[in-house]
Amino acid sequence: MKIVDFDQYIRVIEDFPKPGISFKDITTLLKDGEAYRAAIDNIVEQVKGYQPDIIVGPEARGFLLGAPVAYALGIGFVPVRKPGKLPGQTVSETYELEYGCDTLEVHADALRPGQRVAILDDLLATGGTTSATARLIEKTGAQVVSMGFLIELSFLEGRKKLQGYDIFSLLNY
Ligand code: PRP
Repeated sequence: MKIVDFDQYIRVIEDFPKPGISFKDITTLLKDGEAYRAAIDNIVEQVKGYQPDIIVGPEARGFLLGAPVAYALGIGFVPVRKPGKLPGQTVSETYELEYGCDTLEVHADALRPGQRVAILDDLLATGGTTSATARLIEKTGAQVVSMGFLIELSFLEGRKKLQGYDIFSLLNY
């Protein structure tokens, strides 16, 4: 596996999407084939020890990490989506944001009780998205065995919302 300093591929954009936010832009990593492949390979190496049966990724950037990892492991991928996007019967979870709240959905029949699930996403910030995703998975009776991220903003203490879960990230800010 290629050793890459992933940090140098992340572009930081100040005051996006609002003043005071220092946005970590992963598109500069994604467009570099070698860096993108190295990031996926690295996640694959870390997640395969948990022997997941299936990968779950939240819309939209979670798809960019989760789907290639699922492909590399030869297992399935289940999308978690924002409301009204999935055509079949869904289960949903609402979580709080700084102002207001948001909802995520998954197909009710996408996971089976006892299935070992790894959640993958580009970013762990406050942990709201991942904890809602874990609750969705657990509503179906499946089990969350690992949570993996390209970037973790540890100063936002997302791990506090995710106690009891095994978490890894490639980059820490
Ligand atoms: C971003 C990111 C994570 C989430 C992390 O997604 O891709 O899913 O926020 O933040 P949290 O830990 O505070 O919940 P966003 O909701 O912006 O959606 P997008 O990927 O569709 O842009």
